[in-house]
Amino acid sequence: MSDIHSGTASQSESDRTLSEEAVHAIENLSGVHPGYRRAHAKGICAHAVFHPSGLAAAFTTAPQFQEQEVSAIVRFSGSSTDPAMADLLSPAKGMAVQFSLPGGGISNLVGVTVPVFFARTPESFVDMIRTVHQAQEGDLGPIDLIQEMISHFSESKESLMAVKHLKPPASYATCHYYCIHAYFLVDSQGNKRPVKFEWIPDEGIHTLSLKEVSQQTERYLEDELQIRLQRYPAVFQLSAILGEEDDPTDDPTQSWPDDRQRINLGRLYISEIIQEPQDLVMDPTVISSGMALTDDPILRFRSTVYSESYHRRSQETKSP
Ligand code: HEM
Repeated sequence: MSDIHSGTASQSESDRTLSEEAVHAIENLSGVHPGYRRAHAKGICAHAVFHPSGLAAAFTTAPQFQEQEVSAIVRFSGSSTDPAMADLLSPAKGMAVQFSLPGGGISNLVGVTVPVFFARTPESFVDMIRTVHQAQEGDLGPIDLIQEMISHFSESKESLMAVKHLKPPASYATCHYYCIHAYFLVDSQGNKRPVKFEWIPDEGIHTLSLKEVSQQTERYLEDELQIRLQRYPAVFQLSAILGEEDDPTDDPTQSWPDDRQRINLGRLYISEIIQEPQDLVMDPTVISSGMALTDDPILRFRSTVYSESYHRRSQETKSP
């Protein structure tokens, strides 16, 4: 029997329609790149093993967070919709991890290098993408666009500021990745504790100097990872941040206070580049037992959007 937690978020007809609109809006803005993901199009996969610390056993029955090591697939990516975009030109980076559970089944955790998302609801995501598209078509000038974004989408402020302050990473292995959404950890009595996850690089965070930026190739992050993994693994600690009573669990545009208790859930050892497995979809609502989804509307929406993107890309011939 698979250990997947009661499937993905349920997909209603209206979710599916809105997902089609979201993917359509992204395609209108950025074009279609046949065979590629509609976001985070450029990426590289690696094999990894997760060594749990065992410290989470009091909070969750999730099999990947007990004693036993579990294997995982990692996909690092640039956030652009264009697979040919140079690594330096897509500011945020992604790290998606798919754990293979001991009893069968999978559980996903998907992170990016900014701590919060720019849209609070799927509807505002679609509105924002359409607004940027209008601006691109010349219907809105740059100043109008900024005014529009500030007056209608003030929820984006923290995320846009975080993106603005990002510096080009020296390596995919030296970024701090935030899984953004709150989840619940569920213990053996059924008690739920809100939690957010972060991947913290053992080597520390390293970015490029201005001089180094000018020396990088279009795909320097992939090349660096290839060379690095031939010598030693890239290692990340998985940190769980425990939420308290008033911490919002349904709003991905808000972070929690800095003083929240953290638990080290274990370390991920990434050892070897692999070809992307066929049909890999890093749906963040596919989670193990011992975890549960919160009511974050963006988290739940991602399930239908990712399947819409997968549906389109899997029917296309990949352009080289
Ligand atoms: C309305 C909200 C969002 C939309 C519409 C959206 C859209 C997409 C789409 C269409 C894909 C490609 C899926 C595929 O073909 O497999 C994708 C991938 C991705 N997204 Fe999102 N996304 C959203 C929110 C987020 C958030 C909050 C995060 C932050 C953790 C995130 C991080 C990523 C990453 C890292 C990938 C690459 C996954 C992989 O390597 O397979 N996305 N997104």
